[in-house]
Amino acid sequence: MEKIVSLCKRRGFVFPGSEIYGGFAGTYDYGHYGVLLKNNLQEAWTKSIREEDNVALIDSSIFSSRQVWEASGHASGFSDPLVICKNCHTKHRADHLLETIGVKADEKLSEKELNKIFDAHRKELKCPVCDKKDFGSVQAKNLMATSTLGKFEEEEQDLFLRAETAQGIYINYKNILDTGTFSIPFGIAQVGKVFRNEISPRQFLFRMREFEQMEIQYFVRPQDASAEYERWRNKRMAYYETIGIKKENLRWQQHENLVFYAKDAWDIQYKFPFGWNELEGLHNRGGYDLTQHQKFSGVDMSYTDEDTGEKFTPHVIESSVGLDRTFLMVLSDAYDEDEMGGEKRVVLRLAKHIAPIKVGVFPLLRNKPQLVDKTREVFQVLKRDLRNVIFDDHGNIGKRYRRQDEIGTPFCVTVDFDTLADDTVTVRDRDSGEQERIKISELTKYLKEKIQ
Ligand code: GAP
Repeated sequence: MEKIVSLCKRRGFVFPGSEIYGGFAGTYDYGHYGVLLKNNLQEAWTKSIREEDNVALIDSSIFSSRQVWEASGHASGFSDPLVICKNCHTKHRADHLLETIGVKADEKLSEKELNKIFDAHRKELKCPVCDKKDFGSVQAKNLMATSTLGKFEEEEQDLFLRAETAQGIYINYKNILDTGTFSIPFGIAQVGKVFRNEISPRQFLFRMREFEQMEIQYFVRPQDASAEYERWRNKRMAYYETIGIKKENLRWQQHENLVFYAKDAWDIQYKFPFGWNELEGLHNRGGYDLTQHQKFSGVDMSYTDEDTGEKFTPHVIESSVGLDRTFLMVLSDAYDEDEMGGEKRVVLRLAKHIAPIKVGVFPLLRNKPQLVDKTREVFQVLKRDLRNVIFDDHGNIGKRYRRQDEIGTPFCVTVDFDTLADDTVTVRDRDSGEQERIKISELTKYLKEKIQ
């Protein structure tokens, strides 16, 4: 994990938030290559969701009426179990502490149930900061981040920042239906920032206080929910292979404690450098969400079948995954160290369509104007048809290869003295290091085929 964090900083993927002011826990800033990679991951997710014929995309607001979160249950029930070390006063998650001694305690259990488990193991639990065994009782702490809106006192409102994008989908379900384009079954998908007051943000991009989610709520007839849930579970697991994730690093984990309205819930777990952990949640949520919003808003959320006249409240199949957590998984899966030409190197073996930069173009020597001019010519040719090609003449050729390997660039094109004579260039493959001589006139087609 340390190696990944250091690579992210060194190569400009991700920086700690507010770094020049000493950092700000649970926040990270994405740099140039980070943004490009994150965009590719979001694009791949959206493309796979849109393989379905009947999915609407939305982009709902981050500020919303407080009632949204009262109806959803987040205002009262969205919490994590906090314990405070009485000796050094540091704050910890009770379920995480129990995990350290091999005891599983679902964070969704009630405060009372968690206290019971915690008390049974109290004598074994050490504070990770001061090593003392002296904790207070478990308290459920609400995770909703709040904000104040309104410039004048009389206008001021205390608001919740959204903790999931899903509620924006539920409150727009009726709007999408009323456009007349969609009928059951159909989905609404959204990607966007969410905020959570995590007790202990940790493990880099794994647990942040501000992060992005990619969510789809798929609305179905109640009698079709089980079959659709199964179909979505298969679809989502298969998706990860398409972005290059190794099969053996993914597995299913069923939830042991379901919230009262849920019919079934499974997580796709990934083997992160710190162990197996949740990547994505797939939930068969029944009709709870629409029923709650109907109750709180007074707006009828039922659906009437145009042909049969059948009236019902749709059930919801949810797929929810963090974009930042996907990013961390992709880096963890692609990170490799090997030896090439007698030298150790770090290489990101990213799937080619996900890689932030597809091709690096270099002159063999940076102080030979003829080579540099020719390289710029080749660069312009490639840029016409390929996205994310870069020109690089910093340092020597070896350093440029190392840099591009660490960014995960699948191909490097080098212009040398032979190029000036025969209009061919060297194309080097990131993974094998093999080099091929290709005619400039055929270069775009050659690279396009390889990247696709
Ligand atoms: N609408 C359902 C929902 O929000 P969740 O399990 O709380 O469910 C869904 O979150 C996904 O969001 C998780 O599977 C994970 O990928 C991501 N996620 C949750 N909390 C996160 C955090 N603090 N930092 C980064 N990603 C997080």
